Amino acid sequence: MSKSTVSASANIAFIKYWGTTDLERALPCNGSISMTLSTCRSRCTVEFIAGTGVSTIHLADDDKPGSSLTEPPPRFRQRALDHLQRLQAWAQTQQHDADGHWRVVTRNSFPAAAGLASSASGFAALTLAACGALGIDPDADTRSLLARRSGSGSASRSVFGGFVEWPPPGWPGPGLGDADAEATCVARQLAPADHWDLADVIALVETGPKAVASLDGHRRASSSPHFAARQALLPARLDAVRTAVLARDLDRLGPLLEQDAIELHLIAMSSQPPIFYWQPATLAVLATVRDLRADGCSAWSTMDAGANVHVICAADDADRVAATLAQVDGVHQVLRDRVGDGPRVEAESFF
Ligand code: PMV
Repeated sequence: MSKSTVSASANIAFIKYWGTTDLERALPCNGSISMTLSTCRSRCTVEFIAGTGVSTIHLADDDKPGSSLTEPPPRFRQRALDHLQRLQAWAQTQQHDADGHWRVVTRNSFPAAAGLASSASGFAALTLAACGALGIDPDADTRSLLARRSGSGSASRSVFGGFVEWPPPGWPGPGLGDADAEATCVARQLAPADHWDLADVIALVETGPKAVASLDGHRRASSSPHFAARQALLPARLDAVRTAVLARDLDRLGPLLEQDAIELHLIAMSSQPPIFYWQPATLAVLATVRDLRADGCSAWSTMDAGANVHVICAADDADRVAATLAQVDGVHQVLRDRVGDGPRVEAESFF
């Protein structure tokens, strides 16, 4: 096969990856646990063309074949081209003929300017579509490994649906050996999507691109005096979150995920130089979520490297949470998502 289209979803971490021992290959200092989403997706068509030529990467304006195309931001374009080259080099080590160039068209289903982390879904979809275009069908560990090597560590979780754990290198978890800590640093599914019908109601308070990329945040994280304290308490927190997810216990999970997100931002704000992702409306949403809880609704906030707030709640509570968040001053839009099944091969391609 020389052309393949794959869509993959974003994921929201309950315990966040923040800080690396190897930025380029996204080797995390700590384990993380996430939920893969359903509707916030990236769809990507990749064609592998034998022989020399110039590789191209474009963004599609809509989902239909023949959609008009725009140039991607230069930083994304370069990261994507580097990753495709990396995949070619890897394919050659697997005795595949990978001498050629690429044509890529990709699109996010969620608002491009929403400041939502799109690198996880984007690089998971790009990795899997490129493998398909090369005619390779890697096993689950290898998919996660290749997605991680894009440099977007959270992409290693987006190759699975449902609830996903990504341990740090050398972690003695199931399926991981010590032989090669880099090659075994992969995510695994904790439970499939139908294990627990959780919703993610996203309050968009920021519509432009965020000021500091997560790669810079990872780079600076260990300069915070609070970084080491978080690392020390994370093993116990990961155990507690894993247990809560497996037991479908939102009242145990919620306080842990909220605390972990606040600590990520505490580290960001105290890094050198400091990073302030929150906007005034971020705090207003956090207060509204506390009010919802005081009113008997089990809803819990988490934020990635940005100002937007993801509110995790039972699917049955999502209507009420979304209606309440829409009333908060400074919330531009409320997106509704829920746990999802993970990547899928799509029949319809962009070209
Ligand atoms: O995968 P990256 O390099 O975009 O980093 C992800 C960082 C967070 O979204 C803040 C946390 C996480 O684990 O998803």
